[in-house]
Amino acid sequence: MLLQTENLTKTYLRVSPITRKVRRVHAVKDINFSIPHNCIYGLIGETGHGKSTFGRLALALETPTSGKVFFDGIELTALSKNKLRKLRPKFQMVFQSPDSALNPKQRISEIIGYPLRFQMGYSRRQVNWAVREMLEKVQLDIRYAESYPRELSGGQKQRVEIARALSLGPKFLVADEPASSLDASIRGRILNLLLKLKEEHSLTILFIGHNLEVIESICDTISVIYKGSIIETIAADKIRFESRHPYTRALFGHFRLKTLNPEPSSAAKRKINAVEEETTGCRFSWQCPFVGDRCWKDFPELTKFNAGEVRCHFFEEIW
Ligand SMILES: Nc1ncnc2c1ncn2[C@@H]1O[C@H](COP(=O)(O)OP(=O)(O)OP(=O)(O)O)[C@@H](O)[C@H]1O
Ligand code: SF4
Ligand SMILES: [Mg+2]
Repeated sequence: MLLQTENLTKTYLRVSPITRKVRRVHAVKDINFSIPHNCIYGLIGETGHGKSTFGRLALALETPTSGKVFFDGIELTALSKNKLRKLRPKFQMVFQSPDSALNPKQRISEIIGYPLRFQMGYSRRQVNWAVREMLEKVQLDIRYAESYPRELSGGQKQRVEIARALSLGPKFLVADEPASSLDASIRGRILNLLLKLKEEHSLTILFIGHNLEVIESICDTISVIYKGSIIETIAADKIRFESRHPYTRALFGHFRLKTLNPEPSSAAKRKINAVEEETTGCRFSWQCPFVGDRCWKDFPELTKFNAGEVRCHFFEEIW
């Protein structure tokens, strides 16, 4: 396995601006992940369910509240800052929003060249040559080397972001919704580019997103995250018709979820939040049409089934 996580957990503390009460947000909860070499592994889930937090934890860009991350057998969570810095070129992130990831005051040549110069110790001449090569790889005209990010379109900025991430020759890439803000035709070109580069560089990619068609078409295996927990892992070509978790089935439109009162009162929202954060049971109980008594009390374990793993007490009975 190239990347493995053991009980990876990240809890943030959030202070209410009105009541000043402190609330715990379990952004990522007890995630055990194994990503084999040379594959594209998908992570899907709705907004705010912990996808980016997991991506940052997997690349040791953030410290977990508890749990471990292993990269190619090395425990990243136990490394000193110095050792981690030396290993960092091997794993890189394509950030969700190139607008915030690219320094607006640096030219494109500096954005791509800076890590080569200061992390890899390249000479000025080597940097110039490498920047040129990277721009060619991401199919961006060399004349953009002296431009600033604001002079580029969304798709061009995303190409720069990919070039920056690939310039250090990583083995593992976390692509956090790399094309979600782009329109469909440009998104398609960026995804094709990623696939081409994956083959050329023998990359392993953790592809984060919420566009089901995209994820289904380019990934080998997909994990579904719900409120910080993995609730199902299944081969991409089976997810649409053979998934077992009610949430995954609902994502693919097999049925509608129970909707809460469309405009719950603030008190009701607070109650739901408190129960969701502290519940010992299934965190999907509020919306699940199949909820039983047991669901409110017992947290379901991930259980193997013929096409993958699922976290639901009744996965055998429901379908
Ligand atoms: N630095 C932080 N401080 C406090 N809470 C945070 C922080 N980062 C993330 N969170 C919270 O953790 C939860 C998960 O956030 P995260 O950004 O990982 O979600 P996401 O699945 O990537 O969402 P999106 O699809 O919108 O990008 C959210 O409730 C978010 O508000
Ligand atoms: S454990 Fe219960 S609430 Fe959770 S998904 Fe399964 S049936 Fe629904
Ligand atoms: Mg995100």
